[in-house]
Amino acid sequence: MEPLLRVENLKKYFPVERGIFKREVARIRAVDGISFSLERGKTLSLVGESGCGKTTVARLILRLLEPTFGAIYFKGENIFDLDKKGMFQARGMMQIVFQDPFGSLNPRQRVGDIIGEALSIHNLAKDRRRERIAELLRTVGLGEECLWRYPHQFSGGQRQRIGIARALAVEPELMVCDEPISALDVSIQAQILNLLKSLQERFSLSFIFIAHDLAVVRYISHRVAIMYLGKIVEWAGTEELYRNPLHPYTRALLSAIPTIERRERVILKGEIPDPTQPPKGCRFHTRCLEALPECKEREPNLEEISKDHLLACHFA
Ligand SMILES: Nc1ncnc2c1ncn2[C@@H]1O[C@H](COP(=O)(O)OP(=O)(O)O)[C@@H](O)[C@H]1O
Ligand SMILES: [Mg+2]
Repeated sequence: MEPLLRVENLKKYFPVERGIFKREVARIRAVDGISFSLERGKTLSLVGESGCGKTTVARLILRLLEPTFGAIYFKGENIFDLDKKGMFQARGMMQIVFQDPFGSLNPRQRVGDIIGEALSIHNLAKDRRRERIAELLRTVGLGEECLWRYPHQFSGGQRQRIGIARALAVEPELMVCDEPISALDVSIQAQILNLLKSLQERFSLSFIFIAHDLAVVRYISHRVAIMYLGKIVEWAGTEELYRNPLHPYTRALLSAIPTIERRERVILKGEIPDPTQPPKGCRFHTRCLEALPECKEREPNLEEISKDHLLACHFA
């Protein structure tokens, strides 16, 4: 069966322009040829350090950006082939939750209007809008009195609940959550994760869950894709990835989690390279503790090494 979402060799390069004629002097290779799919009702986590291209992937999935190359099939149709009407319909089925709910909620709008607006754009619950908004607030664990308040009157965790309620308003099938808990206190993070998990069960939602480390995604994801400089370097089912991480980058990310069984901490050397000029060969080789001469010459492909476990590394 066709998965809900299938991403095929997706690339997004941003031009770097100089001078009054806006001459293109370089291209940031934010997303540089990635492919994956997401089955209905499942969660795929995209994990990697800041700048590796996660948000760009998220924005491409919602078609808030046009790709440089590649395709994204949502329910079998390439969203980049959809016309305005088709894209409007697709938008009713996919929603995004941002890292910073404060930045994405209009500070001058009351919560009731924020959620009401989402309903009216898609012409939903016309006769019973007020009840529907209250119901959505209850669904995310907020009381009806919140209807009349403004975003600044809430805590970070509550604001994120409002962002989730707004996304749920259109009854989407896919939610892209771009670091939804990164800005929250650890104690609140677990509550939001629990909420997302229960929403998934209740509404059979599919999630793309984006995070910059591996600490939180184990609990929520079915599969994990590790990204480095615009590419996926490892892909596996969650249990498999945590039990048997193979890419040196994945192992470094895992070793940085404080609570997990005391692995030896792997400290990566050097800085993340310039995304306009990713290193030749394996783009991780400049920071890899296990790199061999071949890694500087030949780029490894993402290959299946066992069932549902893909790896792009010559020697791991
Ligand atoms: N609109 C844009 N214009 C130019 N460069 C961008 C734009 N958006 C992102 N980038 C660059 O693309 C790379 C990936 O960014 P992003 O997708 O935001 O990464 P992440 O979400 O993993 O931190 C970064 O080098 C970033 O500076
Ligand atoms: Mg980001």
